[in-house]
Amino acid sequence: MRSSHPGPPPHLDAPLEVSPADWEPRQIYYLMTGLVVPRPIAWVSTFGDRGIGNVAPHSYFNVVAHDPPHVVFSSSGTKDTLRNIRARREFVVNIVTMDVVEAMNFTATDFPPDEDEFAWAQLTPAPAAVVDAPRVAEAKAHLECRLVEEVAAGNGNIVVGEVVHLHVDPSVWRDGRVDPVLLDPVCRLAGSGYARLGALFDLPRRRWDDVEGSPPGAAIPRLE
Ligand SMILES: Cc1cc2nc3c(=O)[nH]c(=O)nc-3n(C[C@H](O)[C@H](O)[C@H](O)COP(=O)(O)O)c2cc1C
Repeated sequence: MRSSHPGPPPHLDAPLEVSPADWEPRQIYYLMTGLVVPRPIAWVSTFGDRGIGNVAPHSYFNVVAHDPPHVVFSSSGTKDTLRNIRARREFVVNIVTMDVVEAMNFTATDFPPDEDEFAWAQLTPAPAAVVDAPRVAEAKAHLECRLVEEVAAGNGNIVVGEVVHLHVDPSVWRDGRVDPVLLDPVCRLAGSGYARLGALFDLPRRRWDDVEGSPPGAAIPRLE
C-alpha cells in the first residue's frame, strides 16, 4: 500500500497510512515511541571492565514470563550495557520511580565506558544478593537477572533475562502487594516526554461460563 504522506505532516486531516520504508528511520522512531505508550523503564546496572559501574535506562522493556520470571529489554545497537552483559552474563533491572527520575535521565548521557556512571549521577552501588552486578541503592525495587539469550530484531538487540532474585522496599508495599500509587513509577513517552500514573481503576475479567448464553454486549464489564 502506498503511504499517504511523504513524512510526518504538521496537521493530519485524513488517516495516516505509512510503510516504514517510506519515511526516515528517525521519523518512524518518533511515530513508534509515540504510539507504544506508556512504556516502563528498565534502569539496567552492570559492571564493566575492572568493575566500573554502569547504569543506563531502557524503555524497550517488559516482563514476558512469570514462572520462572523473565524480562526483556532491547539495546538499539551495541552500547556499554550490552557489552557488559555479553561479557558477564548478569545485570540488575532497577525500577524507575519519580524520586530517581532526574538521576535516571542523566545516566542516559553517552559516558565513555571507563567512566563510572554511579559516581557521575551520585548514585550508590549496592551489592546484589545472587548476581555479580551492582544495584542502584536509591531505587525502590530491583530485579537481579541472568542472561538467557540475545535475539536480534532490526537495529535492536533484545536481551532476555531470567529474574533470579527480587528486592522490594517496604515503602511501596501495602495490603500484601506492591501499591502502584506508593511505587509512583515513571512512564516513558516519546522524545523527552514522561508521565506519572493518572486515575486508577479496576475492570474485572469475565469467564466464558459467565458469558455464554448472554445477549451480545450484555456481559461486557463496564467502568463504574
Ligand atoms: C528514558 C530513556 C529510555 C531509553 N531507552 C532506551 C532503550 O530502550 N534502548 C536503548 O538502546 N537506549 C535507550 N535509551 C538511551 C540509553 O539510555 C543511552 O544510549 C545510554 O547512554 C546507554 O548507556 P550505556 O552505553 O552505558 O549502555 C533510553 C534513554 C532514556 C532517557
